[in-house]
Amino acid sequence: EEKTLILAIETSCDETAAAVVENGKIIRSNAVASQIDIHRRFGGVVPEVASRHHVDQITVMVEEAMNEAGVSWSDLDAIAVTQGPGLIGALLVGVNAAKALAFAHGLPLVPVHHITGHIYANRFVTELQFPLIALVVSGGHTELVLMRTHGSYEVMGTTRDDAAGEAFDKVARSLGLPYPGGPEIDRLAKNGKAVIDFPRAWLEEGSLDFSFSGLKSAVLNYLHNSRQRGQSVKAEDVAASFQESVSDVLVKKTMMAAERFQVHQILVAGGVSANSNVRQKMTAAANRRSIPLVIPPLKYCTDNAAMIAAAGTIGYLKGMRADLSLNGSPNLAI
Ligand code: KG4
Ligand code: ZN
Repeated sequence: EEKTLILAIETSCDETAAAVVENGKIIRSNAVASQIDIHRRFGGVVPEVASRHHVDQITVMVEEAMNEAGVSWSDLDAIAVTQGPGLIGALLVGVNAAKALAFAHGLPLVPVHHITGHIYANRFVTELQFPLIALVVSGGHTELVLMRTHGSYEVMGTTRDDAAGEAFDKVARSLGLPYPGGPEIDRLAKNGKAVIDFPRAWLEEGSLDFSFSGLKSAVLNYLHNSRQRGQSVKAEDVAASFQESVSDVLVKKTMMAAERFQVHQILVAGGVSANSNVRQKMTAAANRRSIPLVIPPLKYCTDNAAMIAAAGTIGYLKGMRADLSLNGSPNLAI
């Protein structure tokens, strides 16, 4: 049987990552240099700082990925790279490194959409079963994507304002928690109760779109009003109530889509899929409907290059190629 070996590079935000994956599902290596500690002191990702650290780390990560996999350049079939969406300066570091390596080693270059990478992280857990619905929830995205076969993506719902992870990060900040806020809220919520009635944006009847800015404002107003009245705020309860509201909407809309398109599988991907409440509720709801649910292990939920290699393998097999004019696309559509 023919073996496909792909090296992938991912630098769309604040992780510099390189990985080698075999046949789109066997991880031979997965090197990630996270910049979280660097950006934390600024309370969020600073684009220029991110670009600079990507430049520092990219060669180191590629070498690490190649060494760990124990492969040589002539073993590879192609180099995959995240083309977008993401921060332009950050994307350019990965795109240019991939172009240089593809040129130097005479390898095909395969462009990958970051979100499809998050979806394909699930393939490290199990084979995909179509049709499937994938909920992609990260710092920059909240999308319900219908897949009828490998490499086919139909966006059925998306956020009209903030991404789910962005709402987590902003609410965390207003509670005085460090960046990134999602894991902090998750931790805090474990000691709290969802007793505050924050809003849930369902939008029009049957809509698969999302909106989180109203919820975010409601939390900020609640904190502001409590402080003005001199009432003490139980941060644990605020975290638990906010998280409950987000999970509720994510789970109900995902189930609505699952039933509408009679899917054989539900996938959840992106940084917010690490959330324990989202995982619990999604698992219970999928079980009630007897629909198989897949959520990747935590380390594949956040940005990495193995997932880009997995999606890139499908693109490679479908004949997707980029030439040396490839550019980073901050707002790339799926
Ligand atoms: O996928 P990702 O690593 O990067 C993007 O492509 O955006 O997602 C990062 C986002 C951040 O907003 C972070 O706060 C959120 O994922 N996140 C979480 C949790 N872990 C990470 N949100 C809620 N609960 C978590 N446990
Ligand atoms: Zn991501």
